[in-house]
Amino acid sequence: NFVYFLKGLNFIADRIKEKFGCEDVLITPGDSDVDETVKSLMGKEAASYLRSFLKNGDIVAVTGGTTMAQVPKGMPRLEGYEDVVVVAARGGLGEKVEIQANTIAAELAERLGARYRLLYVPDNLGPEAMESITSEPRIKEVLSLIKRADVVIHGIGRAEEMARRRGLDESVIKKILKNGAVAEAFGYYFDSEGRVVFTTTSAGLSVNDLKNVRKVISVAGGAKKAPAIRAFLKYHCPTALITDEGAARKLIELE
Ligand code: G3H
Repeated sequence: NFVYFLKGLNFIADRIKEKFGCEDVLITPGDSDVDETVKSLMGKEAASYLRSFLKNGDIVAVTGGTTMAQVPKGMPRLEGYEDVVVVAARGGLGEKVEIQANTIAAELAERLGARYRLLYVPDNLGPEAMESITSEPRIKEVLSLIKRADVVIHGIGRAEEMARRRGLDESVIKKILKNGAVAEAFGYYFDSEGRVVFTTTSAGLSVNDLKNVRKVISVAGGAKKAPAIRAFLKYHCPTALITDEGAARKLIELE
């Protein structure tokens, strides 16, 4: 029955909290692998979690992806956040424009009535081009904003799927998988023990910076993503994991 079902999810959330040490674990019913609308529920949950502590003056950094794209959509139009700045956490990672971090940053800022800053750093730059682009004063300014982020909201992906979606070379994909990668977040690839095994060339937030961020919100669901979520949680325990029932049930099964 419904009451038992709700109890079930609370129980699972507590188990995940205990196991990985996250402050909050919020689970929406359903599995986004089989029902896309579950992603919008996660987006709403992440948006309301953000609202519960967001204050004027905060810098919010966001990543891209289809799940993250639902966060601004789940945010009502608000006022009183004109001194919040929303920014992309990392430069271009080869995603479609609709789900790029810059797009999501602009949309979230619009809902909050906040400001936003775009990060224009293309993919796959050689070291020299990267050096020169990141020393441009306006880009430098955005990068320094990112390094001071108070809040980071990000997605987690499956390594192989993300490497393909972002158009990495077949030889690179092989190498990443050979190194045991199961998860991707911020352009970093992690093995099942949560070790970084590959990093995409890009500018912006480094996963090392996460420990200095006041609130980190990870948003990812779908049973198939459970091993990826587990790997990321082993690397860094976020303040909150917003997930769905499909992933959550699988996560405790993996333990
Ligand atoms: O880095 C992880 C990806 O952005 C996750 O993308 O939400 O479309 O699965 P997704």
